Amino acid sequence: MGLLRIQNLMSNELAKRNFISRPPEPPYEFLLNDPTNSIFIGITKLFGVPFTWTFSSLTNPHISVVGITGSGKSFFVKTFLTRASYVWNTNAIIIDWAGEYISWVKQSGGKVISFARGDYLNIMDLSGMRPIDRAKQIMNSLDILTDVGEYPEQRRLTAEAVEQAYVNYGFNLATPAPLTREAPTLKDVLALLEEKQQEGTYAYPAELENAIYRLRQFSREGEDYFAKKSTIDIGKLASSGLVDLDLSSLPDERFRALAALFILQTLKEKMRMETWSASAGLKVIVTLDEAWKVASDERSDAVTIIREGRKYQFGLIVASQNPTDINEAIFSNVGTTLMLRIRFEKFMTYLQGSLNFSEFMRAEISKLGVGQAAVDMSFNTAVKFSNVFLLERVVGELPLDTYTITLTDILEPKEIDNPEIKKEYEFDKITLNAKLVENGLNSEAILGIFGRIGEQNRYIDIRRLVEAMLKENVGKDTVVSFLRSIGLQDAFITRLFTYVAPAAPSSS
Ligand SMILES: Nc1ncnc2c1ncn2[C@@H]1O[C@H](COP(=O)(O)OP(=O)(O)OP(=O)(O)O)[C@@H](O)[C@H]1O
Ligand SMILES: [Mg+2]
Repeated sequence: MGLLRIQNLMSNELAKRNFISRPPEPPYEFLLNDPTNSIFIGITKLFGVPFTWTFSSLTNPHISVVGITGSGKSFFVKTFLTRASYVWNTNAIIIDWAGEYISWVKQSGGKVISFARGDYLNIMDLSGMRPIDRAKQIMNSLDILTDVGEYPEQRRLTAEAVEQAYVNYGFNLATPAPLTREAPTLKDVLALLEEKQQEGTYAYPAELENAIYRLRQFSREGEDYFAKKSTIDIGKLASSGLVDLDLSSLPDERFRALAALFILQTLKEKMRMETWSASAGLKVIVTLDEAWKVASDERSDAVTIIREGRKYQFGLIVASQNPTDINEAIFSNVGTTLMLRIRFEKFMTYLQGSLNFSEFMRAEISKLGVGQAAVDMSFNTAVKFSNVFLLERVVGELPLDTYTITLTDILEPKEIDNPEIKKEYEFDKITLNAKLVENGLNSEAILGIFGRIGEQNRYIDIRRLVEAMLKENVGKDTVVSFLRSIGLQDAFITRLFTYVAPAAPSSS
């Protein structure tokens, strides 16, 4: 074998290995954009490039975010919305399935709308629409959420009663509604059907009965959130800064989905009425977090917003633990997908199939920790590099806040003098937070602990920290594993527990 051949072989081998260990990352001009006109997300893992997001080179401004619980989906959403508001003055509406954004939105000076506190939405409100269009949307929502589509006669009866209710309130079905005229409610629709039932002349009484029963579910006393005069003007939400629509207090998934569908419908209409302006940023971002029923049905207006949003500078963020819950029409059309930690192989296979990334990337994604991510972007021009790249971590805040945990109060004088013994542990907030997450603490407990230790000027006696954890109902085993994970020796952990005030019996 000649020397040349060996060299060739080697360089081939090297080239291959090089490719495997160093997947291409988009060139920096695709990652690093004008900071006054883009949103900083994090540093890339490979070449350490600050990744700033803008949709000017992407197919559209919409984003899907997938990852297991605790992987950092909501954290990313908060970071993104905050910066979009700084950079572009973007308004944000969060359709908050589980109520997990409430405290953040309050802290950020935004507005929280909660159905538990006497807010109502009349799903028959027109906001200037033609009643006939709204009637179709109402039927569309019922199609998605109930079995009405399987019973044509019941569907016809319901649709007819909806239209009749508008007519009875003086509306012309095919004319854009005057903004000042009050709309009927589902109760009026129900009353019309019940009247028909009383008359007793209708040929299919069982069909009528079932149509009534179906609507009653949404207008029962105490559960008539959508069958009363609205206390909320959805049309205005698109220009109200940061708004959290807390759906968690609604009785069940169907109510939540009905609210979400109605809100999306109204926002879509609002979007279509907007006059187009050539500014670079986003005017509105709507976030759907864990709203699987709404994100998975192709008849939902999430799909319409995905299709038309770009020209109105209207962005949609869809976050979910399960990528297969996001409709194909959404998933294959978003300009950006953020993949956080994924657990199930079938989800990974689904993502790999849709986004077409390498085995190397698949292996990398399966190793991601909290806040670490792989990003896929669809550019609006053909590009020669891999669309998927890794982020070291989504950077939510600069690690300015340093927390010092001090052991001095539990050490003997001679231990304090012993230079071998570490007396202080320093963490920036992100790292301390990540340690708590990795040890299985939930967001509520973490927030509570930071609240308690924040009062101590970020210089924390370790006993206080442990007491704060126990007060937040963190189990003793979890406390121990946390203390081990920051490097505390077992002898000190044992001693520590003899010092802390006995806590109330803890639950977990
Ligand atoms: N990039 C990050 N840097 C620092 N901390 C992070 C990061 N991402 C997430 N965290 C922290 O991890 C915890 C879980 O994150 P988050 O609530 O965003 O998870 P999630 O994916 O929305 O989970 P769920 O599906 O349960 O809603 C939070 O305490 C959050 O502050
Ligand atoms: Mg979340």
